[in-house]
Amino acid sequence: MLISKKTGLFTPIRLGSLELPNRIIMSPLTRLRATPDCVPTLLMAEYYTQRATAGLIITEGTHPSLMGRGYTTSPGLHNKEQVAGWRKVTDAVHAAGGRIFVQLMHAGRVTHSSLLPNCARPIAPSAIPVVSEQVRIWDGKVPFETPRPLELDEIPLIVEEYRRSAELSIEAGFDGVELHAATGYLPNQFQVTGSNHRTDAYGGTLENRTRFTLEVVEALCSVRGADRVGVKIAPGFTVNDTFDDDPAETYIYVAKALNPFKLAYLHVGYERGYTRGTAPNFNPIDLLRSVYQGTLLAVGGFDRQQGDEAIRSGRADAIVFGRSFISNPDLVERLRLDVPLTEADLSTFYGGSEFGYTDYPNYLSK
Ligand SMILES: Cc1cc2nc3c(=O)[nH]c(=O)nc-3n(C[C@H](O)[C@H](O)[C@H](O)COP(=O)(O)O)c2cc1C
Repeated sequence: MLISKKTGLFTPIRLGSLELPNRIIMSPLTRLRATPDCVPTLLMAEYYTQRATAGLIITEGTHPSLMGRGYTTSPGLHNKEQVAGWRKVTDAVHAAGGRIFVQLMHAGRVTHSSLLPNCARPIAPSAIPVVSEQVRIWDGKVPFETPRPLELDEIPLIVEEYRRSAELSIEAGFDGVELHAATGYLPNQFQVTGSNHRTDAYGGTLENRTRFTLEVVEALCSVRGADRVGVKIAPGFTVNDTFDDDPAETYIYVAKALNPFKLAYLHVGYERGYTRGTAPNFNPIDLLRSVYQGTLLAVGGFDRQQGDEAIRSGRADAIVFGRSFISNPDLVERLRLDVPLTEADLSTFYGGSEFGYTDYPNYLSK
């Protein structure tokens, strides 16, 4: 059955400065196929280009500095080799008619000294390690280390790293940047009470815990313009020991604080179908829809019908798809035709070669 043009997912939308032909967004997905020096490869260019029919591609988490690296072969965006590697990706996606944002992800404490320059101790708001999970390094999983709390005068330097990375995103050809402020990475570590025990201007009150996120957003907007900046949050996710005394209050505050920026979008994660922690007792998308005044992207276990419904009912402006984009390069076409999706193979999610990466077939070529 063909879906009528009136259905939500296929209605074009303006996202900041971009016109998207549909509301089917490719989620940021860490796939660990960069080089050991964190340089994007031609295989990555092929992978993203295969998915260029998405309304917008948001890349995998990409570190703005080597201290922000969280994984072995995740890409960075802080030196000229990485810019050149990404340029091949963005050129290929654009040539195929697509649009692509880079997701800037500073891991903070969610990393290991063996991945950091001079085996430095990971950094974080406070000296509180992740204890309920382990970190994957070159030869398997090991416990997380206790991070070094950031000195007050170091924090502007990290904001500056993000700013510099946003500048490089222009050279690399990206249409915009998304700040990863979700699932326990550095901005989120500042936001929540479980990982932030600071007593200075970056801890304690909601205003102080949100300060770092807002300073980074300000820096990104100063480089790219707010209409080319998005922010991802995932209220209630407890992955990476992301605990907060009152998550609803915290994220309502964060969403409201983002209103004045008039960003391209706020990207809100929902646990449905992707639970590694305890499910929240609220639906973050509905919680934030009424307080966030701009464009809202929703992610988390959506299928075609749920996505259409969320858009039609006004609960979200566009839908972000993660795992279904891994195994369906032509997801947009499959949703349009309403044909079955290929299941993703978990064993090839992280690292490896083209297998389970660029070899998923298109429906029409099967
Ligand atoms: C293999 C894998 C890697 C992921 N990497 C990232 C990432 O780098 N950045 C991020 O914000 N979310 C990441 N996520 C979360 C997804 O972007 C998405 O929010 C989640 O999978 C829920 O959407 P889905 O139910 O459509 O898969 C990842 C998820 C998976 C399965």
